[in-house]
Amino acid sequence: WNRRPISVWRYRELLPVTIPPVTLQEGGTPLYHLERIGRELGLPHLYAKHEGMNPTGSFKDRGMTVGVSMAIQLGMKSVACASTGNTSASLAAYAAKAGIPAIVLLPAGKVALGKVAQALMHGARVIAIRDNFDVALAMVRNLCIEQGIYLLNSVNPYRLEGQKTIGFEAIDQLGEVPDRMVLPVGNAGNISAVYKGLRELEHLGFIDRLPMMTGIQAAGSQPVVEAISGGLPEVRPEMHPETVATAIRIGAPVNGEKALIAIRETGGTAGSVTDEEILSMQRELAQKEGIGVEPASAASVAGIKKLIEEGAIDRDERIVCVVTGHLLKDPETVIKQCPSPVEIDATEQALLSVVRSSF
Ligand code: F0G
Repeated sequence: WNRRPISVWRYRELLPVTIPPVTLQEGGTPLYHLERIGRELGLPHLYAKHEGMNPTGSFKDRGMTVGVSMAIQLGMKSVACASTGNTSASLAAYAAKAGIPAIVLLPAGKVALGKVAQALMHGARVIAIRDNFDVALAMVRNLCIEQGIYLLNSVNPYRLEGQKTIGFEAIDQLGEVPDRMVLPVGNAGNISAVYKGLRELEHLGFIDRLPMMTGIQAAGSQPVVEAISGGLPEVRPEMHPETVATAIRIGAPVNGEKALIAIRETGGTAGSVTDEEILSMQRELAQKEGIGVEPASAASVAGIKKLIEEGAIDRDERIVCVVTGHLLKDPETVIKQCPSPVEIDATEQALLSVVRSSF
């Protein structure tokens, strides 16, 4: 397997699928060394794994290639999910590839434009619920049980099986186990998935230690952070989650308890960042590193910046931040933050005057 290219299916022996998978060639995403941001923070070994480089622009594709393959393997005829956007975009694409219908429930008015566009164009039945994600998830769970539709939210264990390959790839690309892995946390599926995969590698004897699993949430939507800092045995739901990072605008994470285990068993931590810190790191990644991510993704790196400023982590650590979705997912939030293009008459003089004032 060592000669197989880095991708989800490189690790197929550790995945549950036994049929030819429904694949769009997911995984194998770049691991970038954040040279400038790392230098500024005094972190020489800071990396970003750019999950926005997956087929539909987020890490969800890793879960969906396995989840939709399992739907086919199990003989299911239709699939559904609730989503803050990326899961729906990914499910729509993989259902299209598999040739089965998909139904997606979105919180009305709270999903980034690019994600809705993807779900629509890939042919899912898109239903906007006039409430938040947590309510949409409760509704789709009932719908799936009653109608015999295959549910592909992260309550589906096969989704998480696919997503665990993020950790496998990070180790293969880095050539060693990172000291810390940092993930934005919404429904808490991804951090739990990565942890599960790493534990499996440990049990199989491939690695002898685990990275400190570190979860970052938005300040307006941080039930996992509160459970960790309060030493609570379970995650108490936040009834009115709010953040510009709509992907992680989730108050009742279904995998919350698993995330607590991942963080506590590895000596990791959880922290929160404000919307301003998220957007500021989105710009830094774009402008200092050339890496375009959506707001929720910038939360992981913004969280490290905050933890290092608080003196909570060691500067020598090898840190892999998972940046989860692509810049183009949420163009509206980008346009709001950036100056408009300079519009000029089509003359050389007008052009030169703008160019001169630009350097
Ligand atoms: N980052 C992005 C870009 C996401 O879309 C999500 C979750 C997360 C981080 C958090 O991952 O839920 O596993 O803790 N998006 C889901 C969705 C909820 O519906 O697309 P998590």
